[in-house]
Amino acid sequence: MNVLEIKQLSKVFQGNAGEVTALDRIDLDVKAGEFVSIVGTSGCGKSTLLSIIAGLTDYTAGSMLLNGRPVEGPGSDRAVVFQSDATFPWLSVEKNIKYGMKVKKVPRAEQEKKAGELLKLLGLENFRNSYPRELSGGMRKRIDIGRAYAAEPDILLMDEPFGALDVVTRETMQDELLRIWSERKRTVIFVTHDLEEAMYLSDRIILLSPRPGRLKKVIELPFARPRTPALRESREFYELRNELRKLMNGGE
Ligand SMILES: Nc1ncnc2c1ncn2[C@@H]1O[C@H](COP(=O)(O)OP(=O)(O)OP(=O)(O)O)[C@@H](O)[C@H]1O
Ligand SMILES: [Mg+2]
Repeated sequence: MNVLEIKQLSKVFQGNAGEVTALDRIDLDVKAGEFVSIVGTSGCGKSTLLSIIAGLTDYTAGSMLLNGRPVEGPGSDRAVVFQSDATFPWLSVEKNIKYGMKVKKVPRAEQEKKAGELLKLLGLENFRNSYPRELSGGMRKRIDIGRAYAAEPDILLMDEPFGALDVVTRETMQDELLRIWSERKRTVIFVTHDLEEAMYLSDRIILLSPRPGRLKKVIELPFARPRTPALRESREFYELRNELRKLMNGGE
């Protein structure tokens, strides 16, 4: 069952410098529960595609169906995590996580229960009364992920969520995300320009060509789950990385 069906989708921006074709006839189907990464060099249209899926940006041609229906703007069936923190600095960790549920007027007892479960899942139980500024970047990222999960969306959309973290924290967060995802299956569409990150996390990689973004190659990852840090050191990982790097840099 496909959650998302994108056909021949194009996006042309009308800028001051004239027209910019950001996406050119993209086809993409995503199955429920799948972890898909969108990869490509800077400016190839990754964020534009994610933003279109989020319903924040219009497309200029083609079609997009979410659960069989056309997308008309943002909705609670999708949640987005960006590179920059989206935590509210004036709210405690727990209140940050409850925020969306409060807006949706979820009954208080249910808010308590769900927030409790999420705090546990995220490893933030001991920090429920802390404020974002008291936490590290990696922990603030967990709050972002928790907030996205609290909305119980069909699709989690992530745009370079770990882009601002140092390498070590970034790899820890990749493992954390996989752990959370395996415990609470969601469809994830993850944008990154980091090939290794995409390879480590995904079931499938969608490689876009440099501007205008076209579908260059779709790669099914052959690696078993659960993924463990040893995979990053393995020969097959290294070889696939080199192959994809060549493709990303314009090779055939
Ligand atoms: N609002 C806009 N108006 C005009 N052009 C835009 C707009 N947003 C994006 N573009 C152009 O569309 C192209 C794709 O941009 P996009 O941000 O989607 O790329 P990206 O793959 O996410 O890049 P990066 O890896 O640097 O984040 C770029 O050429 C960009 O300049
Ligand atoms: Mg981007």
